[in-house]
Amino acid sequence: MFVSHTLVCLSLLLGTTQAVLAPPARTVVQWDVGTWAENIAVRSNGHLIVTMLGVPEIWSVDPFTSTKSLIATLTGVTGVTGIDELAHDVFAFAAGNFTIANATATPGSYSIWTLDLNAKTKVKVKKTVDVPGATLLNGLATLDAVKGDVLVSDSGLGNVIRVNAYTGATKVVISDPAFAPPAEGLQLGINGIRLSSRPGPRTLYFNNWGNSFFGSVPVASDGTALGPVKIIAPNVGLLDDFALSPCGGYAWDLAEGQNELFKISLESGEATRIAGAPDSALIPGGTSAVFGRTAKDRDVVYVTTSGGLAGPINGTYVEGAKVVAFNVRGL
Ligand SMILES: *[C@@H]1O[C@H](CO)[C@@H](O)[C@H](O)[C@H]1NC(C)=O
Ligand SMILES: *[C@@H]1O[C@H](CO)[C@@H](O)[C@H](O)[C@H]1NC(C)=O
Ligand SMILES: *[C@@H]1O[C@H](CO)[C@@H](O)[C@H](O)[C@H]1NC(C)=O
Repeated sequence: MFVSHTLVCLSLLLGTTQAVLAPPARTVVQWDVGTWAENIAVRSNGHLIVTMLGVPEIWSVDPFTSTKSLIATLTGVTGVTGIDELAHDVFAFAAGNFTIANATATPGSYSIWTLDLNAKTKVKVKKTVDVPGATLLNGLATLDAVKGDVLVSDSGLGNVIRVNAYTGATKVVISDPAFAPPAEGLQLGINGIRLSSRPGPRTLYFNNWGNSFFGSVPVASDGTALGPVKIIAPNVGLLDDFALSPCGGYAWDLAEGQNELFKISLESGEATRIAGAPDSALIPGGTSAVFGRTAKDRDVVYVTTSGGLAGPINGTYVEGAKVVAFNVRGL
């Protein structure tokens, strides 16, 4: 994995010859009006795994043929949130009850699950553990693939929990005022989380939705903080989830509340709007992003949207959730 990662980064450097102003965008797939795509992960074969809110569904999307198929429907929950790969074609994800109409989570309804796509004929979905103390499990990132540890953010309580996706062992590892929801309004604080890749010390990057900033905290191998939380980019917007550049350097961040995609420098905090606008239907209510993993699409950022359900464009326009591919080569 590290070998191919290095090759990708070298070729990206060599290929960066000219700046592109607006990246080419392509709608890969779209669902019916009323749907909300919440998060996205990618398999080593390049297929995308998309989680839905409002229905407890997980979809597979083939970006090369622009086709989608429902691969799992859960029971006992109404939606699926953060997802990340644990082992080859094994994903950990969070699920629970969230009512889109009033943007309210049901405390105590959240749990951590695994999705195993290794068997050719049968998708295996299994609940690992209920996390009854959580109010809204949201972003999820693999911390230790060997052990099966993931970190998951609780947007309502403002903390980061380590959960072992195989054994169910659960522990709050970081609780910080910077993760908390705003004093007033929708009680959504820390939202998307991603970890910088190995080797070396790892950094947990995060969005705080209600407080409109992107930040980071250095973490130990057990997920506890090794230093203070830092606000990298303040006042960006109502930030949901993001992708980190495969070679580091940038976060490709969705301002869900502004229908915009930002590129944020991890070093300087400079936030550049790449695509979308408050009145644009390009990515209405963008929720999350992931880079492609194959030679064909390693410069492509795939963005999921919620169709503007939580904030119709111009007060009235909503559409079905979709996956939009942005080719950001050279950006
Ligand atoms: C939101 O809607 C759900 C489903 O109708 C309901 O159970 C819940 O009480 C509502 N919450 C608030 C805060 O209005
Ligand atoms: C979550 O929603 C499911 C499906 O409607 C319901 O069966 C379950 O009781 C809910 N969980 C909680 C904790 O309210
Ligand atoms: C919102 O309104 C503006 C100004 O009239 C218009 O340019 C834009 O196309 C509208 N957006 C949508 C999604 O209808």
